[in-house]
Amino acid sequence: MYSKRVISTQDPPLVKLGNIASKTSNCISLGQGAPYYQPPKQILENIIHNIEDPLYHRYTPDPGLYELRKLVADKYQQEYGVYTDYNQIMITPGANQAFINCLISIVDEGDSIILISPYYFNHEMAANLLNIHTINIPLSKEFMLPLDQIAFHLPKVKAIVIVNPGNPSGNVISRQELQHLEELLIDTNVWLISDETYEYFTYNNIKHFSASSLQRIKDQVIIISSFSKTFGIPGWRVGYYHAPNDFITISTKVQDTTGICAPAISQILVIELLRSHKYLISDFVNIMKKNHELAVDLLAEIHWLEATPSNAAYYLFPHQLTSMDTEKLAMKLITDYGVYIVPGIGFGRDWSNYLRISFANVDEETIQEAFSRLKSLKY
Ligand SMILES: Cc1ncc(COP(=O)(O)O)c(C=O)c1O
Repeated sequence: MYSKRVISTQDPPLVKLGNIASKTSNCISLGQGAPYYQPPKQILENIIHNIEDPLYHRYTPDPGLYELRKLVADKYQQEYGVYTDYNQIMITPGANQAFINCLISIVDEGDSIILISPYYFNHEMAANLLNIHTINIPLSKEFMLPLDQIAFHLPKVKAIVIVNPGNPSGNVISRQELQHLEELLIDTNVWLISDETYEYFTYNNIKHFSASSLQRIKDQVIIISSFSKTFGIPGWRVGYYHAPNDFITISTKVQDTTGICAPAISQILVIELLRSHKYLISDFVNIMKKNHELAVDLLAEIHWLEATPSNAAYYLFPHQLTSMDTEKLAMKLITDYGVYIVPGIGFGRDWSNYLRISFANVDEETIQEAFSRLKSLKY
């Protein structure tokens, strides 16, 4: 009765334990990477004020409202020095939809793509749903791009997918690593898909380098991003991809067959937010900077968790040192200690002894409480 592809695709790793956590009284969720901040009331009120405007209730053009596409294109010029025409921007109902649009546009059944693990689980799920092979290449011990292995597998693949800054790793891929990757990709027909959803969320003076700046392979680069994290609006469903103009034209077929367009009202909100984005983004990043610093300090006090490099995004991704199976451990943490964190297996088989901790969902006081519960684990 059901598709074999869908049946064999892993369940979203956050659903099962997330449901148990939500039914467990007084359980603190450090599970989902959803920000607890939201846009200023004034901006939301301005949007609602015009609710009778017919524009709010119609489809927008498939690739999005011109003004929004133009604002996003201009941002690449202003922030990364990369000239971008508005025709290179496709606004989508979220970055997940952007990824699947892009994947459908470049792969045929049986093709392969490289995922750098720990990967963002929905990327792996999307590949499975399309019946394509994933070659999972783990980050090195130092959490660096494994360039030799990438070079080895490149001749077999249609695309390489990176998430930078990383979910779940919280890792930032450096400019040098990306430039080495660019060298490998020159004169190939391999796409580089770079999910830069957390582009603004870097800490410890680490800077994010966007793959859009890799000008020698600019016709092979697709950037995916989201407004969910940037502005604290995951429920409004707006993301986009930045790609060569031809790619936008081809992939419009996919957009038209799936989401058609991002919700009109959400696009209008994002236009408003982008107009005032400079101060808003820095406020939100500062909130996350504090949460990150606190979480890193508290993690260092927990002897059964060994930190890995985390300088960005919403996550810590420590190695767990108990002898317990990680999934059982995560369940025990929910039921006996009232803290929900996500087992690493959902992010790739090489990471089954790791746990993803999101510090974005809660305020500093709740982080303190959650880590003190984690510290009290008897194992
Ligand atoms: C790396 C990454 N890409 C995409 C998404 C999904 O973003 P959106 O809400 O825009 O679909 C997330 C959400 O957690 C993410 O972490």
